[in-house]
Amino acid sequence: MTETPRTTTDSGAPVESDEHSLTVGPAGPILLQDAYLIEQMAQFNRERIPERQPHAKGSGAFGHFEVTGDVTPYTKAAVFQPGTRTDLVARFSTVAGERGSPDTWRDPRGFAVKFYTSEGNYDMVGNNTPVFFVKDPMKFQHFIRSQKRRADNNLRDHDMQCDFWTLSPESAHQVTWLMGDRGVPRTWRHMNGYTSHTYMWINEAGEEFWVKYHFKTDQGIEFFTQDEADQMASADTDYHTRDLFEHIRDGDHPSWTLYVQIMPYADAAEYRFNPFDLTKVWPHGDYPLIEVGRMTLDRNPTDNHAEIEQLAFQPNNFVPGIGPSPDRMLLARLFSYADAHRYRIGANYAQLPVNAPITDVHTYSKDGAMAYRKTSDPVYAPNSKGGPAADTARYGTPPTWHTDGDITRTAYVSHAEDDDWGQAGTLVREVLDDDARDRLVDNVVGHLLNGVTEPVLERAFQYWSNIDPKIGARIAEGVRAKAGEKDPKAADQGNPARSSMQHKA
Ligand code: NDP
Ligand code: HEM
Repeated sequence: MTETPRTTTDSGAPVESDEHSLTVGPAGPILLQDAYLIEQMAQFNRERIPERQPHAKGSGAFGHFEVTGDVTPYTKAAVFQPGTRTDLVARFSTVAGERGSPDTWRDPRGFAVKFYTSEGNYDMVGNNTPVFFVKDPMKFQHFIRSQKRRADNNLRDHDMQCDFWTLSPESAHQVTWLMGDRGVPRTWRHMNGYTSHTYMWINEAGEEFWVKYHFKTDQGIEFFTQDEADQMASADTDYHTRDLFEHIRDGDHPSWTLYVQIMPYADAAEYRFNPFDLTKVWPHGDYPLIEVGRMTLDRNPTDNHAEIEQLAFQPNNFVPGIGPSPDRMLLARLFSYADAHRYRIGANYAQLPVNAPITDVHTYSKDGAMAYRKTSDPVYAPNSKGGPAADTARYGTPPTWHTDGDITRTAYVSHAEDDDWGQAGTLVREVLDDDARDRLVDNVVGHLLNGVTEPVLERAFQYWSNIDPKIGARIAEGVRAKAGEKDPKAADQGNPARSSMQHKA
């Protein structure tokens, strides 16, 4: 039998009691000199770190990635060379909910993977959808605020959400996706992950390609209907967290097969959709999926705070052979995440075990609160004292693309088939079957009936008609009919009574 370890203070000295404070007699006051009691109270007051601004609710697990395909013609990244096996950690999340919010609220799901590669950490910070609501980072903060809580009553508000969406037609593709079956995955094991953005891959010869990633679940896609999701939100707030943890604990290890779409560099200029517009996919018929390898999750965290809450993903963590694209959302994200970590975790967040690479770190970054890695001289570069020197030969030419023009604030250049409604309409008409279309209509009607008021409501009908006239008409009819059941006067005005219950988004 193993011996029970003895409690110590944080400094390692034996503790006198786990139960009793130091007092003057049994009825006397507590003494300030009870340093252990004070240590316990003070540490407790500092246990929480700020939650992530978006994507606060989530969890994750450790695993590995094995390369099964051959993508050497497109990238020299060590992590994707044939036969390579790389350890990783993944975190899944909802976007708008706070840390204690239900896992089954309708929302996109974060799908973030940190690969501990032999060339340093490579982070793929994606979602379970191949597109996004906005295409310019100027609108991201406003978008997230519109999905969170009102200033006055601190409630989430469908009117606010729809106000933003209907004034931002570029959101149509993602909103269609969100309101469909994939808006509530049955579990994290039953959803796909996508980079959503286009990235650049560079091969050994220095040739550049545009790439999109698709992690397809090997468990199959499964979803919850709105009713099932609502019931689960009250029955088990942490259903997705629990499901992942218990399956891994019981040896049922989920996996995803990674595919990529590859676009030759020169295709981008004339492709029918702007390939850097985050609201568009590249149809599979244009750029078919190429298999890369398999991600398996097989180890749970043992300390969720240390290994998941303090886990810090950053889309700027690239390795040689992988780089950004002109997608302006992605370019903004290259700044935003490390900035968030410095605030949320602290200046030296990258030194925490879960964030540290497996490679040696030779950086000129030094000091700051909680610095753990030791700095040595020389502390500057260039130097003639044997300090680290950049490996320009290994990195080669940095990822690059041609650009010029006057400094401006304008929308993207439109390509031949770029418009806000087209791909959303294709999804409704050509991908969904009749049952999925019925559920989409029900979900949108339910959402609109739950607090959306004029003039936003009328704009919402127009928005859905622009996506597809038939779906738009069915949604308008559905809302008017159901509003009439609740309040006959509202049906005449086409304006449902505002519900007192704020619905889960
Ligand atoms: P395809 O028929 O080749 O692809 C359609 C894809 O849609 C499927 O492969 C599947 O992708 C995905 N899908 C299936 N059911 C649903 C659903 N209920 N909700 C959301 N997505 C679903 O056609 P295209 O490539 O021409 O794309 C047509 C439309 O399909 C697009 O406008 C887009 O809305 C959607 N789509 C396209 C993707 C792409 O990268 N081309 C990826 C996903 C969706 P998967 O297996 O990746 O889930
Ligand atoms: C989390 C910013 C767009 C996926 C976050 C966080 C910030 C942020 C600040 C919290 C980070 C933290 O505290 O750890 C932004 C900005 C965006 C943007 C400024 C656009 C300009 C996107 C897009 C995707 C995405 C398009 C998906 C393709 C994620 C994920 C997380 C996250 C998955 C959670 C990561 C984790 O599990 O720790 N984002 N984001 N974001 N974002 Fe974004």
